Order: sequence, then C-alpha cells, then structure tokens
Amino acid sequence: MAAMLPALERARSFDALFSGTPVILAPMEDVSDQVYRALCRTVGADLCVTEFVNVEGLLRGCRKARQKLSLSPDDRPTAIQIYGSDPARLAEAALVAEGAEPTFIDINCGCWVPKIARRGAGAGWLRDPDAMVAMAKMVVERVSLPVTVKTRIGYGPESHMPIVDLARRLEDVGVRALTIHCRTANMGHSGAADWAWAARARAVVSIPVIVNGDVTSASEAERALAETGCAGVMVGRRAIDHPWVFREIRARIDSGLTLAEPSSEERIELCRALLVARVAQRGEARGVTSTRRHLGGFVSGLMGAAALRRELFDCPTLEGCLAILDRFEMRLAA
Ligand SMILES: Cc1cc2nc3c(=O)[nH]c(=O)nc-3n(C[C@H](O)[C@H](O)[C@H](O)COP(=O)(O)O)c2cc1C
Repeated sequence: MAAMLPALERARSFDALFSGTPVILAPMEDVSDQVYRALCRTVGADLCVTEFVNVEGLLRGCRKARQKLSLSPDDRPTAIQIYGSDPARLAEAALVAEGAEPTFIDINCGCWVPKIARRGAGAGWLRDPDAMVAMAKMVVERVSLPVTVKTRIGYGPESHMPIVDLARRLEDVGVRALTIHCRTANMGHSGAADWAWAARARAVVSIPVIVNGDVTSASEAERALAETGCAGVMVGRRAIDHPWVFREIRARIDSGLTLAEPSSEERIELCRALLVARVAQRGEARGVTSTRRHLGGFVSGLMGAAALRRELFDCPTLEGCLAILDRFEMRLAA
C-alpha cells in the first residue's frame, strides 16, 4: 500500500518505522523469502528485507526475480533489496521494484561474494565511494519510495575505512537510512563485527542507522544499540537457527525482560509450520531440503535433538518429516 500513499504520508510512515527501534530480519539469499519473513514476523520481527534481487534478472522479468518481488498484502513492512553494478540499470530496476509496493527500496552495497563484488556490484561499490554516491543519487531521484543502502564499513584493507564519510554523503543525496554490516568486504563473514564504526557513522548523520553483524541474542542487541546509539538492529544468521531472537530482543528493548526459551512444543510446531509452508511454496523436494538448514537450530537443546535432526535430514518427504516430528513429540510427552 505504501506506494499508493501521498508523498508526505509515505515519508511519515517511513519515519514512524524507526521511531521504536525496529528489530529487522536481514536480507539473506535463499532464507528471507516470503515464507520465512512471515514466520519471523510471528515471532517478533518488526521489519523484513527481501533476498537481494539481481537488477538484470528483474529487468528481464525472469521467474526468480519476479518471485522475489512478489509481496503478499500482509507481507508488510518489507523492503525490496536490489543489486547491480550499473547505476542506470539500478535506477530502472528500482522503478520496477516500486511497482511491487514495498515499504522502501534497499540497495545492496555490501555483498562480498567475489563473483558479485569483483564485477562492481554489492560491496564492489565500496571501492569507488564517488561512484557509489552518484549511483545512490540516481536511484533516489528515479523513484518516489524511500531508498536505503545496506553496506559494510569498507572494502578493506582496514587502513582505509570510508564508511563515516560515505554515510554523510549518502544522506546528502537523499538516502533515507543506512544499514551497516560492521565488517569489511575482505572479511566476508570471518572475524568480529566492529560496531564502533556504526557508532561513528551514526554520529555524523541524522538519518536512521541500523547496526548489523554478530547480533545473536537480546543481550548482544542491547549492547549493540547502547554502544552505537543506532535506530534499529538487524539480525541475520542467528535468525536462521533461532527466529525467536526477534521477540527476545523486542522484550529486552521494550521492558528489559529476559524471555524464557521457547518450549519444546513451540519448537516442534515451528518445524511443522516451516515444512508445510515451504513445501506449499516450492514443491515437496525443494521445500523439504530448503527447510533442513533451519530444523537443527529449531530443535536445538531438546533431549534427543541430534538423533531427531539426523532423521529429519534423511527424510525427503513432507509426510515423513511430519510423522518423525509427531513421534518425537509423543516421546517427549511420555
Ligand atoms: C545465507 C546468507 C545470505 C545472505 N544474503 C544477503 C543478501 O541477499 N543481501 C544482503 O544485503 N546481505 C546478505 N547476507 C548478509 C546478511 O544480511 C548480514 O549482513 C550478515 O549475515 C551479517 O549479519 P549477522 O551477523 O547477523 O548474520 C547474507 C548472509 C547469509 C548468511
């Protein structure tokens, strides 16, 4: 609905998103799809970002891109993330993405994967901050929805960290919020995220800055927000294993509470819900296999979790997986 609103209201609704320190599901390829966004919302995610969408696929209208762009009416607030290396194509793709009526458009300037970054897309933009700012300006000017950027603290080496200057310049060209994954591109996912860079960038801009990288629990989120003063916190990998992290962080931010671990019933129920939804979305074979990366984390800590995990991993059918979960639940109750 956001794109249907007049510009002023749209601007207000975007600002309102950041008035309550949103806890955000990170864009993750093959994870943060429609099904997983819905699941994370049920356990407290305030805002979601789609998997990145390649601008060339999007502009060609290829099936994968079309699927990623399709947002159901209850899939809000959700941002669509796009990536590419050509500013004009990014701007054109942003306009197409706007047609899907996301809450805002996010530009990926943080993907470190060599086949993407070496071609100048994703974190590749960090090698040329001038070009990155000019590209962001072009996208901002092309669409009427708010445009945000997700990036890293620099490309590397650590002696050159453009993020603070970049934050200021991106704000100047109309970027409305910035997510900072507090690693360099060269680090990939290794080493520790250094939240101090989010604090430094946050200090020089008035737009919301979202801290990302290694936020794995309510106490880490609390620490990241306290150390950076950021407007929101984004969670990636921990949400794959433990989506309850969203409500745990929410409770900590709102009332300082430490929530109890999810019950065994809730853990099993989430396994069922994800299996059923993914199979409905992707068909049986891909639905079941794509769920495996989550199931081990969902049941972790339960007595017999390792054996359950093995059984589930060996089972190719939905019916079989549901029967395994039923038997496991009965054993737990006995
Ligand atoms: C499986 C996977 C897929 C990812 N895909 C994307 C993506 O499509 N777009 C993006 O901006 N970042 C992507 N990322 C990076 C995450 O959004 C996030 O920045 C990173 O994992 C650090 O946060 P974390 O420590 O909470 O996991 C991905 C990460 C993972 C693990």
